[in-house]
Amino acid sequence: MSHGTRRFWYNVRMTTIEEIRALKKERNAVILAHNYTRGEVQDVADFTGDSLELARRATEVEADVIVFCGVYFMAETAAILNPGKTVLIPDPSAGCPMADMITGAQLRELKAKHPGAKAVCYVNSTAEVKAECDICVTSGNAEKVMATFAPDQEILFVPDQHLGGHIAGLLGRTYTLWPGYCPTHQMVTAKAIADARAAHPGAPVLVHPECAKDVRDAADHALSTGGMCKFARESDAREILVGTETGILHRLRKENPDKSFYPVVERMVCPNMKKTTLENLAAALRDMKHVVKVPEEVAAAARKAIAAMLEI
Ligand code: 13P
Ligand code: SF4
Repeated sequence: MSHGTRRFWYNVRMTTIEEIRALKKERNAVILAHNYTRGEVQDVADFTGDSLELARRATEVEADVIVFCGVYFMAETAAILNPGKTVLIPDPSAGCPMADMITGAQLRELKAKHPGAKAVCYVNSTAEVKAECDICVTSGNAEKVMATFAPDQEILFVPDQHLGGHIAGLLGRTYTLWPGYCPTHQMVTAKAIADARAAHPGAPVLVHPECAKDVRDAADHALSTGGMCKFARESDAREILVGTETGILHRLRKENPDKSFYPVVERMVCPNMKKTTLENLAAALRDMKHVVKVPEEVAAAARKAIAAMLEI
């Protein structure tokens, strides 16, 4: 790319960022972004975090409008927690394949087969599924939330078999696991971890609990993306290997310029998390689109499951 072309795109980007800042003021809006979104989106956001931090932040927003940069279930959670506010998602097609692996009807069928069981959903689920559950968890609080159940309480855990299996293992319990999974986190393998360790001897390996058991076993820590940011801040390690969606590297490197971060799998990208761009973020604020709406009867039931989690 020539210097002139680079300069042109730099100016376009700066103009879009300036437009976003002006529109944000005009609309009295706040921009929330997930740790996996594009670096330029994280940089323009008011707050970047993991699912739990974003859900908590969504309860503290004073602005009239929340623009949610992430995937649909996250924007839906913000809408459920803020019935009086307008929640926008720049690209409404940004779904989460794992969240779509179970429907409300399938969960109702499962519950009917297990009377007396408590239904627990990972926050990566649709509002309709949350509405069927007793409580919701995120990867940042799952162990703490699940520890509140009596050890002999029967649990149906949906939709992520890996997070459910991870927590059951930590607490020494057995859950009925829905066979859902994250296609992006399937990309990490124990062999990829061994290769990364060989290239960076001594570097701790962080993976997300959405990774399979053999991958979690091969790593040093299974953490939420917020947990990874905390680990990076507090660790003395100069090099850290990261086995999750590579969007998080932007934040890790920005917050820890004295440390080096390497992806365990270079091409580990969640395509849906990359759907938010500066351009569609500006368009969302300009045209007040796409409004995230959850029918109130579903939202009311889902809100109970999310509130139960936030109370713990
Ligand atoms: P975190 O809550 O850890 O950010 O995870 C969200 C997610 O979608 C992981 O794939
Ligand atoms: Fe869903 Fe996986 Fe993307 Fe997270 S990384 S949003 S679980 S598809």
